Amino acid sequence: MAGPARAGVPLPPGFLWGASPSAPQIEGAVDADGRAASIWDVFASQPGAIADGSTPGTACDHYHRWPADVALMRRAGMRAYRFSVAWPRVQPAGRGAVNGPGLDFYDHLTDALLEAGIRPMPCLYHWDLPQALQDRGGWMNRDIAGWFADYAQVVAARLGDRVGDWFTLNEPSVSAILGHGMTLHAPGLGGGADATLKALHHQNLAQGDALAALRAIGPAFRLGTILSLQPVRPSHPGEEHRAAAERWDALWNRVPLDGVLRGEVPGILAEAMGRWILEGDLERIRFPLDRIGVNYYSRLYVEARPGGLVDAGFGPAPAGPRTDMGWPIEAHGLTETLEDLRDNYGNPDVLITENGIACDDRADGAGRVDDRLRILYLEEHLAAVAQAIQKGCRVGGYLAWSLLDNWEWQEGYRRRFGLVRVDYRTGRRTPKASFDWYRRRIAETPA
Ligand code: FCB
Repeated sequence: MAGPARAGVPLPPGFLWGASPSAPQIEGAVDADGRAASIWDVFASQPGAIADGSTPGTACDHYHRWPADVALMRRAGMRAYRFSVAWPRVQPAGRGAVNGPGLDFYDHLTDALLEAGIRPMPCLYHWDLPQALQDRGGWMNRDIAGWFADYAQVVAARLGDRVGDWFTLNEPSVSAILGHGMTLHAPGLGGGADATLKALHHQNLAQGDALAALRAIGPAFRLGTILSLQPVRPSHPGEEHRAAAERWDALWNRVPLDGVLRGEVPGILAEAMGRWILEGDLERIRFPLDRIGVNYYSRLYVEARPGGLVDAGFGPAPAGPRTDMGWPIEAHGLTETLEDLRDNYGNPDVLITENGIACDDRADGAGRVDDRLRILYLEEHLAAVAQAIQKGCRVGGYLAWSLLDNWEWQEGYRRRFGLVRVDYRTGRRTPKASFDWYRRRIAETPA
């Protein structure tokens, strides 16, 4: 079976190879051991919210099957695993009382990863806000900064003796825009630009407070954030579309980047965001991060749309190959993204924390999938990383999205991103051709 027989583009010795999932997309077991509902459980239960009518209730049942999943990573030779911690497992009410069994789960996972030679890299928030906090306004409530910092402290106090690498938020712009400005993601507020900017500002603020709390616990922790960075291009020629792309870039890429790295708000949004920003906020938000986690899938195409968020909206991408999500395949956009960080943000240490492709995988009778398109996509993006490194960008590793097929938010179970196929009826895991390719690819790089 498959995969390019020749070796891939070389990556430097010590390059950190691994995979990423998120808690709500793989864990399932949403009622187990004292876990309370998250906003995604509630959102998914609304008719029409999820394309296939599913919920994350079972997902990959990773909560019970995690030893098998760690064994798969070990078999592939992975050396890092960015997972997310489910806030509603650890603090079911979002604040106050800590749920021991919820923390135990991550404690056991951490030990098993370390034993397998895999570096645990937890991310504290991957969109599964406790519903109890949503009932208090969620990211619309400024008090969330304190709630999040307390939660970060609880997790770090338990795992910090073994875990040195921490991430705060996953893709704050995606959750602010799709979940607060629009209704595509939980909590489905549809509050337009105001709600988007408010959610973004409060995420920045909460992150700043959490980073300070983490630093106080672990002076040697390597602290980072994870951003969806996508070069934004106009869908059509003309000044109005160019200007719309510039505004969208400010909203999508710059608010999170400029906040933490510079303590600034992009000029183009300063007035609109100003109403949420109090004195001292920007100092709280700015933090000397040890690394940036970059999630990259494609560029973004935007058109002028009066009445849309910042008078812009998603537009068509140029003709060309697409993934099963409909996203254009544009590996060079990743090099471009890394060069932007090098040139405009002081060339920070970067870890590619997500990259991957949804394919219309076809399994044979034994559940095997010959997913050549996935191998090509991943190889092309690794070449884009290698090119950026040659050009002086500081990229220390690559985590594939994802080890397992999983529950893909509003798309439900109908989009498959895994190196390993999951049969959702039985929970059975079957490595795809891409898994074998990844194992060989990892083995090519000196540890
Ligand atoms: C990213 C999310 C991740 C996954 C991939 C496909 O935006 O962070 O959870 O859904 O997209």
